[in-house]
Amino acid sequence: GVPVPRPYTMDEIKLHNKRDDCWMVIGNKIYNVTRYMDFHPGGKSQLMRAAGKDGTKLFYESHAWVNPDNILGPCLVGFVAGPGGF
Ligand code: HEM
Repeated sequence: GVPVPRPYTMDEIKLHNKRDDCWMVIGNKIYNVTRYMDFHPGGKSQLMRAAGKDGTKLFYESHAWVNPDNILGPCLVGFVAGPGGF
């Protein structure tokens, strides 16, 4: 089933840095972008630049008009834990 979103540390997040297991932080949210990979209009390699990382800066530099929740709502895996997070 779909896991309940929960906090993850950056150490946990950065383990998911592969094309077939890819998480990305945008704002304070963590998305599993593995299945979105083939649909990203900017291509896989652009998406992979932020694989397992905080992609907030790259995301908003590339397309500040895109709403990640509209596209990746069902792909939310959790929130960034720790200072400034949960
Ligand atoms: C294009 C979504 C992450 C780089 C796009 C477009 C969407 C999108 C909807 C088309 C925008 C338009 O034409 O108005 C997403 C989502 C992301 C994501 C949901 C989060 C998982 C990233 C990241 C980068 C990036 C991290 C850069 C490292 C680009 C580029 C384009 C693009 C360069 C332009 C492609 C072109 O028109 O030639 N993305 N993106 N994206 N994206 Fe992303």
